[in-house]
Amino acid sequence: MTETVKGSEERKTEKGPKKVFIKTFGCQMNVNDSERIKGILKRLGYEFTDDWKRADLILLNTCTVREKPDRKVLAHIGEYKKVKEINPRAKIGVCGCLAQRMGEELDRRAGGVIDLMFSSYNIHHLPELLEKVERGQKAIEILDEPPEDEWEMFEYPTIRENPYWAFVTIMKGCDKDCTYCVVPQTRGRERSRPIRSILQEIKDLVKDGVKEVHLLGQNVTAWGKDFETPIPFSYLLYKIAEIDGVERIRFTTGYPSDLTDDLIKAIGEIPQIADALHLPFQSGSNRILRLMHRYYTKEEYLEKVEKLREVRPDIALSADVIVGFPGETEKDFEETLDLVEKAKFEQLFSFKYSPRPGTPAAEYPDQVPDEVKTERMHRLLELQKRIMNELSRRYPGRVVYPLFERYADGKLIGRDEHNKWVEVKSDQKHLLGKIVPVRVKEASAYVLYGELV
Ligand code: SAH
Ligand code: F3S
Repeated sequence: MTETVKGSEERKTEKGPKKVFIKTFGCQMNVNDSERIKGILKRLGYEFTDDWKRADLILLNTCTVREKPDRKVLAHIGEYKKVKEINPRAKIGVCGCLAQRMGEELDRRAGGVIDLMFSSYNIHHLPELLEKVERGQKAIEILDEPPEDEWEMFEYPTIRENPYWAFVTIMKGCDKDCTYCVVPQTRGRERSRPIRSILQEIKDLVKDGVKEVHLLGQNVTAWGKDFETPIPFSYLLYKIAEIDGVERIRFTTGYPSDLTDDLIKAIGEIPQIADALHLPFQSGSNRILRLMHRYYTKEEYLEKVEKLREVRPDIALSADVIVGFPGETEKDFEETLDLVEKAKFEQLFSFKYSPRPGTPAAEYPDQVPDEVKTERMHRLLELQKRIMNELSRRYPGRVVYPLFERYADGKLIGRDEHNKWVEVKSDQKHLLGKIVPVRVKEASAYVLYGELV
């Protein structure tokens, strides 16, 4: 661990410690990166603020997976740059996937207001980059490839919103080449975090009061494949489950073909693994799956689901799906509806296809008009609503096990083994941070209302 950080003294202004405002866009990986960044900034003597107008440093951790987040980030930079009118010494920093994809072009688009820029590869270079910024220079370090010392960023502890559960990044990057996806460009090739480093972080988290760990990676099911002697992901799960105090384990995201028999067996055998799995399928049409370079068929996907349900009959599945991929016909879309009907997802994240610069699919002919995407999306959401209503009927009367993580307005709130939000009217705040049996009285599509057993 880095004990002292150079320059932290100078960072104190006459008015006290410098304040940083961090805005995070996009996926859970970004959320975890921001938690890591906060850990570094805290060591540097920064305090956190929720009010960007009072910040000495505004940092945007960005996303570029679809066009919408791109636009949101640019709009936010446009707003936040006004901070320099309030506080001429305030600095603006941008990191994450849009920074990685656009580099200095992003600064030009933003009118040259960006002082600091780095990628997800070099978060741990932040102390040196900030020193440069404080000398009045622009510090832009967008690396084409992850540096050798990449894993050093894990020597900084994270600062989390919630004391009872924690994200743990176990791998970075993605080796799949889905033709619509910009992530392999922005996050690089797959790199698995060494097992010792993962287990050590989890042990530290447990000591800190964490009960549930949520393992993260663009493609967690591929963990361990890139080691000199490959290790199956299922082995890591058994090792984590052996750590005293780990009461619940979640992981995202899985790739269908990497959901191997040994992994399904581990899911069946390890009681701490939550009864929920996020397994994106993207399309139900085999023709579209081939065009997407997704290496499975609809039938194989449904077979995996069936195998999972053999070991976990009540598992709550969730998935991502793309509507209106180039060339998607009505018949292809009906295959997607059919898969959704058969797989019965507890939650479905559906996205309209959005062409991404530098990805093959953006150049494909037969781009689907937006009206068609909207109309299909609408039908998909209607179907999913019906399924969620059907599924929620199985909850009333049942006992579920939320980990209570929040108390608000006389209610204890937590997520259960199925990843459902559970709310209980109770003032027993000593139950925060505990997994507690709750009898469900009423179920909506997203929330279960119940009472303590
Ligand atoms: N394996 C990753 C996927 C990252 S992208 C993970 O960790 O979740 C998240 C989701 O965004 C994808 O599963 C896909 O459904 C969607 N997506 C990615 N690129 C897209 C694009 N160009 N247009 C629309 N949706 C896209
Ligand atoms: Fe993107 Fe496909 Fe990887 S969706 S993150 S290229 S598995």
